[in-house]
Amino acid sequence: MAFPPQFLDDLRNRVSLISVVGRRVKLVRKGREHHGLCPFHNEKTASFTVNEDKGFFHCFGCGAHGDSIGFEMRAGHLSFTEAVEKLAAEAGIEVPKATPEERVREAQRASQHDALEAACVFFEKHLRGPAGRDGFAYLKNRGLSDDTIARFRLGFAPDSREALKSALMTKECPESLLIEAGLLKKPEGGGGTYDYFRGRVMFPITDRRGRVIGFGARTLGDGQPKYLNSPDTPLFHKGATLYGLAHARELARQTETVVVVEGYMDVIALHQAGFAYAVAPLGTAVTEQQIEELWRLAPEPILCLDGDKAGQRAMARALERAFPILKPGLSLRFATLPAPEDPDSLIKARGPAAMKAVLDAAQPMIEVAWRLATEGRALDTPERRAALEKDLNDKAFAIADETVKWQYLAAFRQKAKESFRPPPRQWPDGFHRRKAGRDHFCGQGP
Ligand code: UTP
Ligand code: MN
Repeated sequence: MAFPPQFLDDLRNRVSLISVVGRRVKLVRKGREHHGLCPFHNEKTASFTVNEDKGFFHCFGCGAHGDSIGFEMRAGHLSFTEAVEKLAAEAGIEVPKATPEERVREAQRASQHDALEAACVFFEKHLRGPAGRDGFAYLKNRGLSDDTIARFRLGFAPDSREALKSALMTKECPESLLIEAGLLKKPEGGGGTYDYFRGRVMFPITDRRGRVIGFGARTLGDGQPKYLNSPDTPLFHKGATLYGLAHARELARQTETVVVVEGYMDVIALHQAGFAYAVAPLGTAVTEQQIEELWRLAPEPILCLDGDKAGQRAMARALERAFPILKPGLSLRFATLPAPEDPDSLIKARGPAAMKAVLDAAQPMIEVAWRLATEGRALDTPERRAALEKDLNDKAFAIADETVKWQYLAAFRQKAKESFRPPPRQWPDGFHRRKAGRDHFCGQGP
């Protein structure tokens, strides 16, 4: 829910930032500020500062920055609402009650969660029943263990018009709710509603806390689409969600590594192979919101993309999205898979070591940006080089953060200087011998 600004100001004023931060960081006072070791990245010398007067913390090492609510969000991995509620409870401040409309919306949201959870259990049950026999065999065939299937709560939607509808629809869970949750479909030309997912293997999609908010559903055969996803609902926004996030959070934070792959099966295969910090967007390009979410886990998420043309296009798109929002210490890295593999098939064909090698070879953003800008481009005249310089400057100027912007301008200039340096001259045969003789004459070493 949206909190009134007055309440948030009051909360920020009454909560002591020093004590909030002090719970997790040993702080030493220095003048108007407190210093300590940054809790958001590994460091040996303190570059983390807290300024109580201004009400914010800032890390000169990784760029982490924010107020008391922001600190709780990052440190406790909480949503904005969760952080506000926690701080308010600790400070003994009452959280304002929602308006009647907001209450209705909230109530609906809660029961949508219930409906989706019930659907998830329903699909899980059917995967293990007679209707799900082919689905279960399909998943086993793709190398998933029983444990993995259970952990990711995979399921099966029976191939029937109303299996879910008749199992789930009750007075408390009415048809309208099931439609809103994206579980039933109302035909456009009128007529009775029917199950949205039929005859497919079900991949529940959760929010970061693990609550089911939607589904991806794979056909067993060649039917189209290959994956059918829940429609956007009040709970499910594709651009704001990462598949596998709830499972990936812990290891990602521990290891400060998070890997973004393209598909559901890739996430699951990676987790099963021990790379339990993998997540995926939901069939779309990575959004700014997803990048921000990834930065809450690790400073340099690795985007692992296919080696084909589509993968390279996705790389360019991700770069474009990320550039404007880069922050000091926060970036992306890019790993490219050997075509035609995806992570799932690579692990199957060549094992986890091959996957690890791909991730270890991930390139920083600056290298990828430079490569994409210069690849296949003739730079043999001043005008052509000027065109490149202009493109690179435009890219850098898209960065909102001043410090990062100037670093990029400098880095691009340096790279240009290195690559435009004239090739070493080919001296004629015997030149060095003569030159050496002259050096001797001048009394100077070579
Ligand atoms: P891919 O087509 O690369 O499939 O889609 P995949 O992940 O390798 O799937 P498998 O291995 O054949 O099962 C990548 C992702 O794009 C989205 C899904 O999120 C999928 O995981 N997608 C793909 C869709 O949403 N709809 C589609 O029809 C296809
Ligand atoms: Mn695949």
